[in-house]
Amino acid sequence: MRRKGIILAGGTGTRLWPITMGVSKQLLPLYNKPMIYYPLSVLMLGGIREIAIITTPEDQAQFQRLMGDGSQWGLLFTYIVQPSPDGLAQAYLLAADFLDGVPSAMVLGDNIFFGQGLSKILAAADMRQTGGTVFGYHVADPERYGVVALDAKGRVTGIVEKPSNPSSHFAVTGLYYLDGRAPELAAKVKPSVRGELEIVDLLEMYLKEGLLHVETMGRGFAWLDTGTHGSLLDAGNFVRTLSDRQGLQVGSPDEIAYRSGFITAEQLAARAKVFCKNDYGLYLASILSE
Ligand code: G1P
Repeated sequence: MRRKGIILAGGTGTRLWPITMGVSKQLLPLYNKPMIYYPLSVLMLGGIREIAIITTPEDQAQFQRLMGDGSQWGLLFTYIVQPSPDGLAQAYLLAADFLDGVPSAMVLGDNIFFGQGLSKILAAADMRQTGGTVFGYHVADPERYGVVALDAKGRVTGIVEKPSNPSSHFAVTGLYYLDGRAPELAAKVKPSVRGELEIVDLLEMYLKEGLLHVETMGRGFAWLDTGTHGSLLDAGNFVRTLSDRQGLQVGSPDEIAYRSGFITAEQLAARAKVFCKNDYGLYLASILSE
């Protein structure tokens, strides 16, 4: 069964309020493209073509205006509203009809991933049709995230949300590969002390069945935060530094769609034309003349 995708793009980013002014931060630019292009690119690198975009009711129209039905990238988008932000596990309840029993990959709309070999670890996660996969990333401040405890063989032995005494430095990133039972299991999650349906409680159900796997993203990877003014700027600078140095775009759904065979050269040419007045359009055009 072909895995479907979910991008959870609810909320404005509370700590960014003075710059988002009530608009979803995922619509705002991270250097040279809208933030949501980056997590979208991750799902596309995972070979996922059918994607639900979950937004607040107020933001839905703007996401639709930006992204359309997905056909420009050979994708199929479904838009779903999250009436109130009641936790990440809630996404599986909202997307239950869309998923229709099929395995899924969910990514948070503000998570930026970069690293050679990303497609490879996504393919490894995709191979597992039953159970779940999380992606562990070594961070300096694990207490800010969901944290996985690992045994000597790299198997998950525990998972805790924002522990005051973290058992490892491995944060659980905002990318989750779960099997087709995720909505059914999410329905059993009870609200936490902070009043949310915690993703960690859902993941724990998989762990108890011995079906929670972890893929670690090693030293060559970047998993970047965009939650504060400073980290947002840092992430933008990272993208700029890398893409300007290499002359290769980071997180371009247009390039990935073309190289993955989701769209034809004619379709890419049409996209290049849309952006013909800037470097992004020139870049897309240059791919066609390779
Ligand atoms: C959420 C999850 C947490 C995960 C993090 C990744 O945290 O609850 O487990 O590590 O996303 O960005 P929140 O953004 O709700 O603090």
